Amino acid sequence: MQFNFIAKYYLTLSKLVHGATLERAKTSLFCKIPTHANVLFIGGGTGTSLKTLVLLKPNVQVDYVEVSEQMSMRARAQMNFADGINFINLPIEEFKGEKYDVIITEFFFDLFTKEKIKQLIPHIMLKLNVGGCWIDTDFRPTTKLAQRMLLKIMYLFFNLTVGLKTLSLVDVQKLYLTNSFTLTIEKKYKKGFVTSRLLTRKA
Ligand SMILES: C[S@@+](CC[C@H](N)C(=O)[O-])C[C@H]1O[C@@H](n2cnc3c(N)ncnc32)[C@H](O)[C@@H]1O
Repeated sequence: MQFNFIAKYYLTLSKLVHGATLERAKTSLFCKIPTHANVLFIGGGTGTSLKTLVLLKPNVQVDYVEVSEQMSMRARAQMNFADGINFINLPIEEFKGEKYDVIITEFFFDLFTKEKIKQLIPHIMLKLNVGGCWIDTDFRPTTKLAQRMLLKIMYLFFNLTVGLKTLSLVDVQKLYLTNSFTLTIEKKYKKGFVTSRLLTRKA
């Protein structure tokens, strides 16, 4: 899977299809992030919500782990006003950093199969301090026909353009709740098709 090819068009496409909903959802829980938090941002793409985060919380320290060079480059280009951001061009699986107060994932788990997510969640969890929070925003499985059709089209598009290996969305809630997290806040958009969740690490 490689997002370099569509990095230039990603934001425009996302706005064309979803309007402002995804950006609103992604940043809706940033107000809960502590002022001086040490943040791990995973797969943040072109960095639009990273910018919002830093404008809202200028004292946070961020490790921005993004596997796509082109996505990372775009994020870096719009953050030249900010200190405290460390851009790391690696897959999260190879990133060794640990012990963060906050982890952010946005439209990240929708890229993977259930088996892969089952490996990723414990790997990510170990990077979060006990009591720390994880903000995960993503599409959620839906029974509505129009939303199911839209998901099918999106998966087809990403299969063809970035080489995504999966064709369906996994319900991650069951997976992270069995992995030492408590669901603390949930915000729903488009009747729950998009949600932003704040999970707290128990132990
Ligand atoms: C669907 S895009 C979402 C981008 C951004 N979070 C947003 O909401 O606009 C997924 C992003 O995750 C990145 N990504 C995919 N696999 C990754 C991995 N293993 N480690 C880090 N980043 C990854 C991709 O390069 C891409 O930028």
